[in-house]
Amino acid sequence: MAKNFSKIARELVRGVEKAAEMAYAPYSRIRVGAVLYAGPDRIYRGMNIESASYSLTVCAERVALHNALSQGEKNFRLMVLYSPQHDFIVPCGACLQVLSEWSPEIVIATMNRCKEFKFYPLPTLLPRPFLIPAGRR
Ligand code: THU
Repeated sequence: MAKNFSKIARELVRGVEKAAEMAYAPYSRIRVGAVLYAGPDRIYRGMNIESASYSLTVCAERVALHNALSQGEKNFRLMVLYSPQHDFIVPCGACLQVLSEWSPEIVIATMNRCKEFKFYPLPTLLPRPFLIPAGRR
């Protein structure tokens, strides 16, 4: 993986740990933090927010994405993920789909409790995202 991404990911360690601390996960007790990097000083956090109506839970990745979109960002280069309860967590299929619609080439950096990283370009996790056919967009 490009050296650049590992340097940026390391700079985002504290942010993603903070995001995981803010998780609202009383049901699963799996706290997840996400940091979306659009550029220097363009960094957006998200955490999972669970609901008593379980299926209404929102994953950290989509909270970070919607946070960024609500502030006018559209292109993302890197997403850093961390869960103290799940080493090297990767986005669920629903989040991969939504991320692919905004930044199909985004790199997912996932961190374990020892602050080690694994890097996955999104197409390696979701090789065939659903797309609306060209004529219908
Ligand atoms: N979760 C995330 O926030 N991101 C993932 O990549 C997978 C799962 C959350 C949803 C739920 O609050 C908890 O983790 C257990 O599924």
